[in-house]
Amino acid sequence: MDLFDDPPPDTTQTPLAPGAALLHGFAREEAGALLQAVETVLTQAPLRHMQTPGGYTMSVAMSSCGKLGWVSDASGYRYAACDPLTGQPWPTMPACLLHLAQRAAAQAGYADFMPDACLINQYVPGAKLSLHQDKDEKDLRAPIVSLSLGLPAVFLFGTPSRKDRPQRWRLVHGDVVVWGGPSRLAYHGVAALADGDHALLGRRRLNLTFRQVARSIYIK
Ligand code: SIN
Ligand code: FE2
Repeated sequence: MDLFDDPPPDTTQTPLAPGAALLHGFAREEAGALLQAVETVLTQAPLRHMQTPGGYTMSVAMSSCGKLGWVSDASGYRYAACDPLTGQPWPTMPACLLHLAQRAAAQAGYADFMPDACLINQYVPGAKLSLHQDKDEKDLRAPIVSLSLGLPAVFLFGTPSRKDRPQRWRLVHGDVVVWGGPSRLAYHGVAALADGDHALLGRRRLNLTFRQVARSIYIK
């Protein structure tokens, strides 16, 4: 058998767990355009540090776009149609972001992804996100799609059981992670961001998570 018969291994996609994949550099080429769209959203719905129901201020600064946005305050976590900071509806999800999320979901095996919310997280050095599950969405058949821009981060990804120790994955600018199916309720988080200087984002990391919050008639 010829040594060259076998195609090279596919290093562009790493399975993290059943139903979960890291798509390496999936958005790298369009990252500049995506970033511009995010910056426009942030002029309308500025980043802010929310309060946890327990009274802590989150180290990650957040905003949202899409029909629904994620909010947290003394009364709990929820999705809301209006930004509590401006009293206005959240900015529309830019088409380039929506399409990127849909392509990534399809690549990972999830057809017909229709996200209605996109949470924008900004990390500066030292900011972190403790282990949690994304479980406030009504239809858990749709995956979560997560886009990383700017400084590298260590993403913690476990299982739906809090007892299992999470694995650590390095996420860089342009990487996309998709988790759904048996991993939809996997515990995940982000380790304290290391300092650095990114060509486009300086001392920042932005993460966008696309979620299908309302129950969809399109999913069978
Ligand atoms: C999140 O879980 O909402 C964000 C994950 C990340 O920043 O990579
Ligand atoms: Fe999350």
